[in-house]
Parts: sequence; structure tokens; C-alpha cells
Amino acid sequence: SAPYSLLILPGDGIGPEVMAEVRKVIGWFEANRGMAFDVSEDLVGGCAYDAHGTPLTDATMAKAQAADAVLLGAVGGPQYDNLDFSLKPERGLLRLRKEMDLFANLRPAQCFDALADFSSLKREVVAGLDILIVRELTSGVYFGEPRGIHSDDNNPQNEGGRVGVNTQRYTSGEIRRVARAAFELAKKRNNRLCSMEKANVMESGILWREEVQWVHDNEYPEVELSHMYADNGAMQLVRRPSQFDVIVTDNLFGDILSDAAAMLTGSLGMLPSASLGAPMENGSPKALYEPVHGSAPDIAGQGKANPIACILSFAMALRYSFDRGAEADLLEQAVEKVLADGVRTADLMGPDGGTPVSTAQMGDHIVKALDTLA
Ligand code: NAD
Ligand code: IPM
Ligand code: MN
Repeated sequence: SAPYSLLILPGDGIGPEVMAEVRKVIGWFEANRGMAFDVSEDLVGGCAYDAHGTPLTDATMAKAQAADAVLLGAVGGPQYDNLDFSLKPERGLLRLRKEMDLFANLRPAQCFDALADFSSLKREVVAGLDILIVRELTSGVYFGEPRGIHSDDNNPQNEGGRVGVNTQRYTSGEIRRVARAAFELAKKRNNRLCSMEKANVMESGILWREEVQWVHDNEYPEVELSHMYADNGAMQLVRRPSQFDVIVTDNLFGDILSDAAAMLTGSLGMLPSASLGAPMENGSPKALYEPVHGSAPDIAGQGKANPIACILSFAMALRYSFDRGAEADLLEQAVEKVLADGVRTADLMGPDGGTPVSTAQMGDHIVKALDTLA
């Protein structure tokens, strides 16, 4: 069969370090599973700014649009903090999400048994945990207009004289399409969906609740739907996370809740994500796969980064873009085996001692586990 085109954007900080380990895994599937990938690599984020003066060139944007799937490491770093807003590394990532119209961001949080004692929460709270956060990714306060920082000259009461504005804005159509994605996923899992907003204080939250309920009543009455205020949701996530199956929420709440969910699994270095849009001609969705974590400037260049989040993001690509569910399962089992064997990057060093390894060694162990399991 024709090779899949895969655009790899390692990005900044630990991005290139963790992506090097994904390349090993891709090589394994090519050598052992008859898969063919046409891989090309390009720049996004601070490195693209350094090379081209912009965090994402139009040429790279076009390549991303044309690829069967995009794999991204992470962007950002303190050396870029004072750049003009439009040139910041994060703008490159946000442009990719927006222009590819990747409205459904799937952020699974699974607690591997070997790591149940590593969470900041008690083992009995996190053991066996398997939840999925579906975050709306192309709208809400991240993109709403008006936005900006401007002077507030007519208001003498305002010390400093400036005002910063962002707008939380959702259309019914934007809410319905991400709700549908979440209901579909819930059907394939345990058939329960919890929608989170703040309908008690925000009109956009009222609309969110009504539209999710509408999609339920008209299209998915068989899925068990509940609604929760997002602040209570944050509390419930750390109190008794196992009450959830799939959570659907807006762009900003989803960003925050998924970082909280990460700690249920033991480390932010464990969490993958898939950002999916509408189906392409070949039937698979437009897609970008990226770990939930950032560029981790505090550990970049030291071989300490955990590559598992990025490797599990590739597993999601196998599942959602390449229709290779069995291969995705195999890769997840390889990660599980390595963790069960006590192999630990620095972020996973916890109560069991374990064998401390570098980023590259973790990648090698996972490839070896693939050999063993295959
Ligand atoms: P971060 O996720 O980069 O790091 C938070 C903490 O988690 C750090 O202590 C870091 O060392 C640790 N950590 C993260 N990933 C790890 C991994 N794979 N292995 C081991 N430890 C890991 O978040 P931050 O420090 O708030 O942000 C740093 C930069 O990354 C900022 O510029 C931010 O905008 C950017 N960022 C980018 C993305 C992305 O590209 N998708 C996501 C989040 C943050
Ligand atoms: C994430 C990140 C991004 C976000 C930033 C880097 C733009 O925090 O992917 O979770 O806020 O969406
Ligand atoms: Mn985030």
C-alpha cells in the first residue's frame, strides 16, 4: 500500500529529544509490521522563529494540511518570552490547530498499574484509572474576538491606564460538533459522558450545556450524560477520578483539567493527545498528535525527558489516522511492560526505586519490548 505521509515537527526544548525516540518506534513498525511512512521533518515554534522569523511558515502550514498526519513535540522556551505576541512559539501551534480545524482534542489519562504509587494521590484513588478528556480546541477564549491590550484613557479610575481583553465565544455549531465527537468516543468506551462548563456564571456556558443536551436527546439518547460546573469538576477529578469515563469541555477548561488529570497518572511526561478535525478524502480525520506536556526548559538538553507521552501520541496516530488499532495496542503494551519492568526516567523515580534511564534508553527499552511482545 502507498506510504502514509507523516510530517514531524519536533519543535523546541525537549521536543526534539522525545521525537528522536518516536523515530525509533516508527522504524520498528516499518521493519516489523510492513508499514511504510513517508516522513518529512520541519520547524515549528522558537526554532522556526530563529530560522525564518516566524513560528510557522506558510510552507510548513501547507505541508501540514497535505500530510496524512502531523506529529509535534513541543514548542516554547524562556528565550522567546519577550517576543512580540504574534511571533511567540505558541502562536505556531495555535495556527496549526486553527487552520487545520482540529476541533476535538483527545487527552486520555490512564494510570498504568506500575505507576499507581507514583501519583500525588493515593493508589486506591488512581489505580486502574482510564478517563478521556475531550477538549474543544479551535474556539472559545483562545480565539474569540475582540481581544488585545489597549489603553483605557477614558477611565481615570484605572491605575496604569490599560485593559487586556479576551472573549469567550462559542457558536452552537462548534459545541455540537465537539459534543458529537465526545458521544461517539463514549459509545466505544463505557457509554458515559460528563460535560463541564460554568453555566452558573457564563452565557457561553448556558449555551454549551443546552447544546450538549440537544445532541444527547436527538442523537445519542443511549449515552448516559451528566453536566458539572468545571470548578466542581476539578475537585471531583482529584477526589474520585474513577467516576468519569469521557469528559467534554471547552478550550480553556480542557487545558487546565487535562494538566490536573496528568498528575493522576504519575507524570505529565506520560500524557499523549490527538487533535482531530473533519474526515479527509481517505476517510481518516485531519490530525495532529502531540504530548500534553510542553518544552520543559528546566530539563531540556539533559537526556532526562520522558519520551512516553510522545510515543503514546504516535500510538494514537496508529489508531486514529492509520486504522492500525492492533499496532496501537501493541505499542501501549510495550510501554506498559517497560514500566512494569521498573524502567524509569527521572520524572518517574518514585517509591519503588526502579532502574533510572535516560530519554534514549527509555526509547531503546520500548523498542526491545516491542520485539519481545511481537
Ligand atoms: P512544561 O510541560 O514544559 O513543564 C512543566 C513541568 O513538567 C516541568 O517541570 C518539566 O520539567 C516537567 N515535564 C514536562 N514534560 C516532561 C517530560 N516529558 N518528562 C519529564 N518531565 C517533564 O510546562 P511549562 O514549564 O509551563 O511550559 C514551558 C514551555 O512550554 C512554555 O513556553 C509553554 O508555553 C510551552 N508549552 C508548550 C506546549 C506544547 O507545545 N504543546 C504545551 C505546554 C506548554
Ligand atoms: C497545551 C498547551 C498549549 C495550550 C499552549 C502551548 C498554546 O498548554 O497544548 O496544553 O494552551 O493549548
Ligand atoms: Mn496545556
